[in-house]
Amino acid sequence: MKAHIVLLPGDGIGPDVIASAVRVLERIGARFNHTFNFTSKAFGGVALHQKLPPLPDDTLAAARSADAVLLGAAGDPAFDHLPPAQRPEGGLLRLRTELGVFANLRPARSWPGLEEAGPLKPSVLAGTDLVVVRELLGGLYYGTPRGVRETNGAVVNTMIYTTPEVERVAHAAFRLAQKRRKHVTSVDKANVLEVSQLWRRVVTDVAKSYPDVTLSHQLVDSCAMKLALAPASFDVVLTENMFGDILSDEAGAVCGSLGLLPSASLGPGPGLFEPVHGSAPDIAGQGKANPVGAIASAAMLLTDGLGLHEEAAVITRAIERALASGLRTADIMPPAGGTAAARDKARLVSTTEFTDAIVGGLAG
Ligand code: IPM
Ligand code: MG
Repeated sequence: MKAHIVLLPGDGIGPDVIASAVRVLERIGARFNHTFNFTSKAFGGVALHQKLPPLPDDTLAAARSADAVLLGAAGDPAFDHLPPAQRPEGGLLRLRTELGVFANLRPARSWPGLEEAGPLKPSVLAGTDLVVVRELLGGLYYGTPRGVRETNGAVVNTMIYTTPEVERVAHAAFRLAQKRRKHVTSVDKANVLEVSQLWRRVVTDVAKSYPDVTLSHQLVDSCAMKLALAPASFDVVLTENMFGDILSDEAGAVCGSLGLLPSASLGPGPGLFEPVHGSAPDIAGQGKANPVGAIASAAMLLTDGLGLHEEAAVITRAIERALASGLRTADIMPPAGGTAAARDKARLVSTTEFTDAIVGGLAG
């Protein structure tokens, strides 16, 4: 196959990890006889530094006409003083809307060999394999009215959902659950918020079309607790934009590091694939970034974006082998208090060395 992939490396460690993901895709292309063409575009703080908006017009046009978009990170402390829409993050939020990617899939799993990297007892983490399905285009992030009220200087944001917005993401979550362990946990705050009461009603209705999938409802505070106490009890976690933002960071930390988490944002057009970790400006360009989130996002690009399942499975196995051999970036080194076995095995490597090992593991 021939595919045109637009790269938006963006800010901080974005370029570090996108370079890793591109090496992996090139190797996969060579092995399986696919031609992946890459075009890299300015985005986020990088664009702002060039006196462009955070999502320049030609970047958006390229993304729209791509087969898939692979994004690094958006966020640069140099622009912290700007209003939300003008910041690098504003560019990301606009890109999501323009591409119409309403369903954001964030898988979090326990990786063999990383049982001790996170804060949980290995026995609690064991078997964790969940996907947060985050509604990506609605809720507090986009609701109006927003901003400062001229009358009294109070500041407002609005959490708002319509029935069709909830329906389409709920269908995405149930279809995903059908391919997995057939359980959806819908997360809301229906004991307080009217928006959540609508959410719960609509999800319950959509569930009727999926009799093979079990649905449970959970309040967001109790879900946050259960993610720490029993992460392996979740399969698909369906939730609105802001709750999904928060719970997916927690899921990443629970599994060892946010640096491991990939994501796929899907809608009617090209998908947007990005690691969940953000720009981490303190370690940018130092070879310290964990490339797994970006490389696993490239694997999601292959499956969810291009329908190339076998190719993606090869990437996942190569990541597993690199981890099993003991290679670790700093974020997934075993803690000082861990077992001697885990410490003896672990070898601290750079982003590039880690990527070398994964690319080496892609050979036929
Ligand atoms: C994420 C990030 C973004 C979000 C930021 C960078 C706007 O935290 O993808 O989780 O809040 O959606
Ligand atoms: Mg986030």
